[in-house]
Amino acid sequence: MNARTSLTIVLAAGEGTRMRSSLPKVLHEVAGQSLLTHVLTAAPSGHGTALAVVVGPDRDDVAGAARRARPDARTFVQHDRLGTAHAVLAARDAIAQGADDLLVAFGDTPLISAMTFARLRAPLANGAALVVLGFRAVDPTGYGRLVTDGEQLVAIREQSEASAAEREITLCNAGVMAFDGTTALKVIEAIGNANSKNEFYLTDAVEIVRKMGLRASVIETDEDEVRGINTKAQLAQAEAIMQTRLREAALTAGVTLVAPETVYLAADTIFGKDVTIEPFVVLGPGVSIGDGAVIHAFSHIVQTKIGGQASVGPYARLRPGTSLGMGAKVGNFVEIKSAIIEDGAKVNHLTYIGDAHIGAKANIGAGTITCNYDGFDKHKTTIGAGAFIGSNSSLVAPVTIGAGAYIGSGSVITKDVADNALALERNQQTVRDDWGTRFRAAKARGRKPKTT
Ligand code: UD1
Ligand code: MG
Repeated sequence: MNARTSLTIVLAAGEGTRMRSSLPKVLHEVAGQSLLTHVLTAAPSGHGTALAVVVGPDRDDVAGAARRARPDARTFVQHDRLGTAHAVLAARDAIAQGADDLLVAFGDTPLISAMTFARLRAPLANGAALVVLGFRAVDPTGYGRLVTDGEQLVAIREQSEASAAEREITLCNAGVMAFDGTTALKVIEAIGNANSKNEFYLTDAVEIVRKMGLRASVIETDEDEVRGINTKAQLAQAEAIMQTRLREAALTAGVTLVAPETVYLAADTIFGKDVTIEPFVVLGPGVSIGDGAVIHAFSHIVQTKIGGQASVGPYARLRPGTSLGMGAKVGNFVEIKSAIIEDGAKVNHLTYIGDAHIGAKANIGAGTITCNYDGFDKHKTTIGAGAFIGSNSSLVAPVTIGAGAYIGSGSVITKDVADNALALERNQQTVRDDWGTRFRAAKARGRKPKTT
């Protein structure tokens, strides 16, 4: 752990018009989490750390997302969009609290890691006044170029201000910076707006630090880690990079992914030991999978807790609020929402279970439907342990089926059923002997049977 205290300021103002979306840019998602949440999760946390997020005016949605991701975050509003240095100063109150290290990051670079934040802070402890995260860009167009002299960082030149020679530089500013807390505010306040865009550029901090006789340096990272998102194409590219990372992490942790490139994971997926995931599975946010569970092909799972040794799919859809107990089985073409399926219960075929509690070892037959919605409200179905629900039954909620009870196939159950009782709701079967023979004879009289 770093003994120095830190303040991280994440800049999240700006609409991101090139996304062509009504959703603010930083609330777009990668691996089931907003871009902003990714950055806030990677930012230093725990004892001795503070966090500030700068949002645009009337952006309660962004501020709310920030606080959900990091309840310790303070939010500040940048009323006029006058550049990155101006945005940092919107959080002046937080800076004035005086942390040892001041980190600045952008809310639209979701691939940044906690490790990189730690690496960036390290030179501060050795006397650097400013450390800038750099990367070698395949195409540096548009990025600020890092002008260096040996180990020293001399200046950051924005594309619009750079000379032809400076534009040849491929070492670029990733946008993440770490300032020594004792001089940070003085340096950032000294930044003027004497540039072609009349903005206050945070990047001018490098030259100011040098003029003050202090040291600025660079830490390099991979381009993939600092890709900023401005367009939907870049969003898709970040998703691909993140999925590759998550699959590698899952494999390293011992998860069996039969065809990793076909499985989509979320940033917060939790795996137990000896989990197997077959091809073409999509895991949304909030999924945990217990030891030895198997997720068969083509299943789609969101906000669900899966117990150890459970089996899901193929073709299962588990929606938010689902919890499967130990050894529970959910088979093909089954949809489950807001339901607890206790240990060893089976829901094997073509079924909808919503707003329900299913007891241990209950057996839910093919085609069972919990009728949970009356057009206005949702109602609950409770099924006791060991109950047996015959195929093609409709359970009209609110309704309770007792432990060990039986429901005859095809029943529409509207009243509670006692423990161990049989409930049957269907017409008596009528049988007419040899009816088929007589029917065919009557039809065939006077004409030939149609052949196909
Ligand atoms: C910035 C850097 C550039 C770097 C690049 C990396 C500056 C001046 N330039 O350029 O050196 O190579 O990022 O991607 O810092 N923002 C605000 N308020 C403002 C302006 C910006 O909150 O007034 C936020 C944006 O929402 C964004 C971030 O700051 O998250 C960066 O702003 P952006 O306009 O994208 O800067 P770039 O031109 O990409
Ligand atoms: Mg940018």
